[in-house]
Amino acid sequence: MTLIDGKHISEQIIGEIAREVDALARAGRRPPHLVAVLVGHDGASEGYVAAKMRACARCGFRSTTLRLEDDVTQQQLLDTVARLNADDTVDGFIVQLPLPPHIDEQLIIEAIDYRKDVDGFHPVNVGRVALGLPGFVAATPQGIITLMERYGIATAGRRCVVVGRSNIVGKPVASLLMRKAQPGNCTVTICHSATPHLEQFTRQADILITAVGQPGLVTAGMVRPGVAVFDVGITRVPSSSTPSGWHLLGDVDFDSVAPLCSFITPIPGGVGPMTIASLMQNTLRAYQNQ
Ligand code: GUN
Repeated sequence: MTLIDGKHISEQIIGEIAREVDALARAGRRPPHLVAVLVGHDGASEGYVAAKMRACARCGFRSTTLRLEDDVTQQQLLDTVARLNADDTVDGFIVQLPLPPHIDEQLIIEAIDYRKDVDGFHPVNVGRVALGLPGFVAATPQGIITLMERYGIATAGRRCVVVGRSNIVGKPVASLLMRKAQPGNCTVTICHSATPHLEQFTRQADILITAVGQPGLVTAGMVRPGVAVFDVGITRVPSSSTPSGWHLLGDVDFDSVAPLCSFITPIPGGVGPMTIASLMQNTLRAYQNQ
């Protein structure tokens, strides 16, 4: 069994980007610039945005956090997006989700210029990726694809089961793995909350991707020996044995399933760290496209 080290691969990618940005600087070019719009003071969002900004610094990118209060109006946020769309010094930007309930998230996402949508959430990017055309791929599905590439995990002709049909993980990862491409050429099945007898599907999987946020959903009896598992589910559960008072659990019961796997992503340190590396890759691409 190979434990997939997403932290290590993420560091590798950040190092590769930093070398490219260094070469740009030596050629007299400005660095790529990523802006994160952070609305309100949600603890998890603050943490994610801070981590993204730290990764920018390590890549040699310029980065800006635009902070708006919880009571910002939808129109004010739309105006901010319009300003960033028009700003030639900004290569890419993200509006950190979730947004306060009085703001229509989809409206905001669709207001972003798809050429600066480094989150890959705009319908133009989602659609282009589904059609097999170049476009920004969302960070988590791209991170899974990169791990498959760097670990040399064969995908062609293999059965891939995706548990979860979300717009940011389940649907795009299924669409990437069914492409006539490498990685790709999988026979893909998507399971979700209305799928009866989940185990009948997961037992068929050569590659199993779970993204539902239900700790312990997948147990040893539900997988085939030799399966490659990518666990995207991250649930915080209270814990008396950690300084933070909580720890993270995936959708897969790691201790019982891992011994059966050819490859498995741990939590933390599996798919999670790859999402930031993918965002950095998208930002560099947005810059190169300009
Ligand atoms: N909230 C949780 N994950 C993400 C992400 O990848 N992008 C944005 N914009 N918000 C998020």
